[in-house]
Amino acid sequence: MERIPLAKPFWDKECEEAAINTLGSGRWVKGPQSKSFGEEFASWCGALAAAPCQSGSAALWAALRLFDIGPGDEVIVPGMTFISTATCVTLVGATPIFADIEEDYWCICPDDVEAKITDKTKAVIGVHLFGQPFSKRIREICDNHGLALIEDAAQAHGAILDGKMAGAIGDVACFSFFPSKNMAVGGEGGMICTTRPELADKLDRIVNHGRNQNLESIELGTNMRMSEVNAAIGRVQLKHVDDWVKIRNQNANKIVHSTPVRENSVHGWHQLCIQTDNPSELIAKMDQSGIDARVHYPLILNKHAVYRNHPQHKIDLPRSENIAKKLVAIPVHPSLTNEEINRINSVLNP
Ligand SMILES: Cc1ncc(COP(=O)(O)O)c(C=O)c1O
Repeated sequence: MERIPLAKPFWDKECEEAAINTLGSGRWVKGPQSKSFGEEFASWCGALAAAPCQSGSAALWAALRLFDIGPGDEVIVPGMTFISTATCVTLVGATPIFADIEEDYWCICPDDVEAKITDKTKAVIGVHLFGQPFSKRIREICDNHGLALIEDAAQAHGAILDGKMAGAIGDVACFSFFPSKNMAVGGEGGMICTTRPELADKLDRIVNHGRNQNLESIELGTNMRMSEVNAAIGRVQLKHVDDWVKIRNQNANKIVHSTPVRENSVHGWHQLCIQTDNPSELIAKMDQSGIDARVHYPLILNKHAVYRNHPQHKIDLPRSENIAKKLVAIPVHPSLTNEEINRINSVLNP
């Protein structure tokens, strides 16, 4: 019985040829592959422009720099997500303010975002957690308060909210191509996108030392460019991602679970998380059936040691705290066979 992993990166002859041809071309950086990948990705998700970069974390750092966010500023982030949603804020010298999550969809809670806005707030980073789009109220709140909305779409390639794809909902959106994600680039990688015309020209610059065409660095940046070989692989994967998201949705429909999907939206199903009072028992049962599963995320962000001196380190985010301990991610990736789905179901519904 073959073990079922939580993720299975896609690799085929076309990816291989794209990689080899790009290496053989001798054009390894700053070439036509990254330029085309950015253009194709933007047109796929409905953004105005996009620039490939080295990771989702780099994209988040760059997004904050685009809004000139720095010391003295506050950025509201969800309490339960991957750590770099918050550390990007700290890295630019601003303060992440942790908001609680929704009880049902586990994304950033609009009411708590509103409660945490101060005159220092400059932006909200909404995360489409596990591929579930965050509430459309987050967009409305940002518009009403003049705040930038940054989408952390690292887990949400192909997710849709009210007819808009992840990447076209916020002012700026950040994707990750880490190998477990809905699409990948054969290594580390990310994408920064914008829907705002005044930022479109700045994307390439921010990932390239803040340099203008005269090679003068007119703002702070560094080298966060994606290599050509990764961009070439990404272009091949982009052609498949819609199909993969469809299969993720079909798999999620076949698997026995009660995780809700938000109204008027398409879930990206990067992760299928099961809420259970006894996560260790579920993980052990999955393990006995040869299925990988793990708790996502065991520690909420403000409780991480890196935030030991943060004013919110000791506060309670009751829903984040309660739910984080109870979510077990199980496989939902597009390579699952029917036999594997049956095996997963026989653990969930013996
Ligand atoms: C929600 C979220 N934000 C940001 C990131 C960071 O992406 P990367 O690992 O490409 O830096 C990830 C990646 O795991 C993520 O899941």
